Amino acid sequence: MLADVADLLLCPQCRAADVHGLALQGRTVRCPRGHSFDLAKQGYVNLLPGGVPRHADTAGMVAARERFLGSGAYAPIREAVRTAARQPSPDVSAGSLTMLEAGAGTGYYLAGCLTDRDRGLALDISPAAARRAARAHPRIGAVVADTWAGLPVRTGSIDVLLAVFAPRNPAEFARVLAPHGRALVVAPLPDHLAGLRSTLGLLDIEEDKEAHLLARMSGHLVAADSTDIRFTLRLTPAAVADLVGMGPNAFHRRSEQRAGAAEGPDPAAGAPSEVEVAVRLWEFTRA
Ligand SMILES: C[S@@+](CC[C@H](N)C(=O)[O-])C[C@H]1O[C@@H](n2cnc3c(N)ncnc32)[C@H](O)[C@@H]1O
Ligand SMILES: [Zn+2]
Repeated sequence: MLADVADLLLCPQCRAADVHGLALQGRTVRCPRGHSFDLAKQGYVNLLPGGVPRHADTAGMVAARERFLGSGAYAPIREAVRTAARQPSPDVSAGSLTMLEAGAGTGYYLAGCLTDRDRGLALDISPAAARRAARAHPRIGAVVADTWAGLPVRTGSIDVLLAVFAPRNPAEFARVLAPHGRALVVAPLPDHLAGLRSTLGLLDIEEDKEAHLLARMSGHLVAADSTDIRFTLRLTPAAVADLVGMGPNAFHRRSEQRAGAAEGPDPAAGAPSEVEVAVRLWEFTRA
């Protein structure tokens, strides 16, 4: 619930609350200087200073993601993230963790990491995603926020930060982490879903993506460990359609259609029933 995490939040308008955090009074989140933000009826709060950008994930994309993840297809990734997140640390008191997921989507990975003693902050630029993340776990508070614009989160307040298939802001990730804090980043390897990509003409993963990731982290976060997660998925045509519909390809396909291009193949047509999942889980500490 938002009440569990309000004190971790910064006012997006004045950022004056870096010492005290925000306070939840009734259904309104307030900053010490008097700015206020109403909770949506689904329990999340929108802290975007401007409007919601057009590229935010839509309700349809979030529903596809929820169906796909709910089938357990990416459970091995969630298990690996959970194991890494819960590594014992002498700096964390009484085994209770404060976690943040940036670009949380439905909150699937964050919810998988939390116990009832922890608390989790799910940030996403999409209100549809925040709506879903707000009910992914009783100890999650969900906030609409833009990772690129800076996290509305107090400095040094987070034990474990997750960014799973999501945008990264290394300077901000380092700022919000506690001195002993760790950032767990999951990113696709070049051959992730390779068969599916070529069959359906989906967006490619750049070959130099990893070098790019490490270069951007440099000066903010240091790679302490990495683990590759590889397994084979057997997908029904409906699962293929959800996998396509939940990701950036949904935008790609829509913009092609807006531009009057040929609509292209049905996402599920001719898809292989087996695809290889290949991702890397990085563990970063503060530089
Ligand atoms: C590929 S999805 C991953 C979601 C979730 N981590 C998962 O793996 O199920 C990327 C997520 O990042 C969010 N996102 C995109 N740009 C963002 C930004 N600038 N700030 C915050 N979230 C963003 C999207 O709305 C989407 O939910
Ligand atoms: Zn304020």
